[in-house]
Amino acid sequence: TDAYAVFGDPIAQSKSPYIHRQFAEQTGEDIAYTKQQVAEKDFEQAADAFFASGGKGLNITAPDKLAAYGYAARLTPRARRAGAVNTLVKRADGTLLGDTTDGIGMVNDMHNLGWEIAGKRVLILGAGGAVRGVLQPLMEQEPGSLTIANRTVHKAEQLAKGFADLGVIEPLGYEALSGRQFDLVINGTSAGFGGELPPLPEELLAEGAACYDMMYAAEPTLFLQWAEAHGAARLTDGLGMLVGQAAESFYLWRQVRPEVVPVITALRRSLS
Ligand code: ATR
Repeated sequence: TDAYAVFGDPIAQSKSPYIHRQFAEQTGEDIAYTKQQVAEKDFEQAADAFFASGGKGLNITAPDKLAAYGYAARLTPRARRAGAVNTLVKRADGTLLGDTTDGIGMVNDMHNLGWEIAGKRVLILGAGGAVRGVLQPLMEQEPGSLTIANRTVHKAEQLAKGFADLGVIEPLGYEALSGRQFDLVINGTSAGFGGELPPLPEELLAEGAACYDMMYAAEPTLFLQWAEAHGAARLTDGLGMLVGQAAESFYLWRQVRPEVVPVITALRRSLS
């Protein structure tokens, strides 16, 4: 049995052990997967102990993704871009590789839903760590245009500069969205938690637009309520992204691709 775990703080609510046990059952992989509450300042020590005792891989969630980035001996290009690590892999030579699978998890979820990204006018709301983590995989899908709107405009401008070699990103404040229309709108702000949304113009969604919330909840999120009321043709929350990032981590560790759909369905049922 190979040992894996997720580190974060808080961690009690984490669905990762459930998801990875489902993957293991499906694929017949012999793994154990636990969760461990690890404050940011304790990350290095806890990771040292985990790997010293034979651990094969870690998932890392808030607030430890930056500490994991610093801890990894090597980084994949997309993790370097993201400035964060959510997956550590112990390789055959004993070194630790850091990767981030959030962006590919989101893009794969859109593919599973039958949503097109290529050629579409894509708008991302927010310019924090969550958005930075998904930009490279999203840009690799070659959207027709990519706009980032953020309350603090200079953070959107910094992302546009930092990813300029991968393509053009247009940074904006929310007020500059008026008169503009988009085919795919992705919410990457944490604003919904506070019970308020960024100020979005009434006509933001183009005919047939799709809306994706990187957050998920038992009830439709504030952003998805807004999307429904403003004519979105398709919408979903981030539950599929959660399972998708887990599936990519599982693949990095085991070189086996699990089925995501039955796990998303089971989780959805357990939320309501
Ligand atoms: P995360 O790791 O979840 O991305 P973060 O890096 O703190 O967290 O980023 C939070 C994002 O949500 C930012 O884009 C933030 O906007 P600012 O950069 O202007 O702070 C956005 N956000 C949070 N609360 C918001 C609110 N009430 N209205 C609009 N945007 C909000």
